[in-house]
Amino acid sequence: MEQLIIQGGIPLVGEVTVSGAKNAALGILAASVMADEDVTIDNLPDVDDINMLLDAMESIGATVVRIDRHTVRINGKTIDRLVVDDVYMRKIRASYYFIGALLGKYRRAQVPVPGGCDIGQRPIDLHLKGFGALGAQVEILDGTLFAQAERLTGCHIYLDKVSVGATINVMMAACMADGLTVMENVAKEPHVVDVANFLNRLGAKIKGAGTDTIRIRGVEKLHGGDYSIIPDQIEAGTFMCAAAATRGDVMVKNVIPKHLEAIVAKLQDIGCEVLEFDDAVRVVSKARQRSTNVMTLPYPGFPTDLQPQMTVTLALAEGTSVVTESIFENRFRYVDELARMGCNIQVESGNVAIIRGAAQLRGAKLCAPDLRAGAALVIAGLAAQGYTTVEEIGYIKRGYEHFDEKLRELGAAIELVDSQRAVQKFKLKTG
Ligand code: EPZ
Repeated sequence: MEQLIIQGGIPLVGEVTVSGAKNAALGILAASVMADEDVTIDNLPDVDDINMLLDAMESIGATVVRIDRHTVRINGKTIDRLVVDDVYMRKIRASYYFIGALLGKYRRAQVPVPGGCDIGQRPIDLHLKGFGALGAQVEILDGTLFAQAERLTGCHIYLDKVSVGATINVMMAACMADGLTVMENVAKEPHVVDVANFLNRLGAKIKGAGTDTIRIRGVEKLHGGDYSIIPDQIEAGTFMCAAAATRGDVMVKNVIPKHLEAIVAKLQDIGCEVLEFDDAVRVVSKARQRSTNVMTLPYPGFPTDLQPQMTVTLALAEGTSVVTESIFENRFRYVDELARMGCNIQVESGNVAIIRGAAQLRGAKLCAPDLRAGAALVIAGLAAQGYTTVEEIGYIKRGYEHFDEKLRELGAAIELVDSQRAVQKFKLKTG
């Protein structure tokens, strides 16, 4: 079975270039089928989640032409079925974006209900509330969600909870409804703004994305166009934490510094030097860091998708830190893995981690429980003394493009191996 093997203790030094934002690309790809003309999208991250969503789009008849690893041309004109198969929903949760896209364009959609996952229940009640408010009949039978509407009429929607997915999904349905829709208490993440900007490029009339209120004036049709995905704020933050945890000096290129304010502030809190440039940030961390406290919040707060990576960084800091996970109810499962490396972390009431910094971590055999925790375990291995292996790296490949390759370019001793023999070979080579 494929796994990553790491010889830790090497500070990461050099430059790394961030790929396009996975969570922007997923919404944008789903939205692209709403046009009946060619839509060309570039700066796509070459990760499994994106490739699985492209397969799901082809399965409903959309024309998908892959220009290169990072560019695709889509045409929704050839869509010939409005039913998304369960196999795709099981592979990629963001298939539920097809509800908003197909309902908005065809007034009908049939999509399997997404299950929960390792980080929490992840219900979709807010999505359904939004579709219902627009006039759609939505019912769930035997695990399949049926949505249809004679017509979709603009309305006033208040989302009880800030939800990235519900904001994107309902925004898509509303952009081809009749009249004005006002959505309140929406998510403001960069990827929400990117989907809104993309839809406007195709002729939608969306205002206010990135603020608490989005106003959408429905249009009859969307036309084709070209679009480039924004850089991935979470991938950038992951490499910034890796630089901090390994006491390295890393220039993270192709970023939008504005999107990184929360992680920059926290790394500076703990003693890292962070230099900002137009489209890059440099993290320099020579000495042992100080403790701090973190609470995950909707954007512009500290991103929940960087919580595991920050927790690992704090596991090596001097003193006691507290990390509170306020978005998902079960996002500290990876802490059990870190305990095997000598981390001293107690999780209380499921969402508060008390972290007592350790002077050093020791390498161990680890298993990734989900995407971002998988990246955090790799960071822990890079910072630890000795060898670490990380299994279940399929999670990491879902959201990080060539993660091990990019880390090797920063000087890390890390390799993708699939046999004990390869593990031994790596140990001989690096021993
Ligand atoms: C998106 O998930 C991201 N995924 C997640 O990233 C990210 O962690 C999350 O937003 C928060 O930023 C994609 O964009 C594909 P939410 P999403 O709806 O949209 C509750 C990664 O690692 N909620 O903002 O599913 C929900 O349970 C992934 O790339 C409801 O109660 O997140 C959670 O507690 C992991 N009812 C909170 O809201 C709903 O109808 C925020 O969830 C919807 C959500």
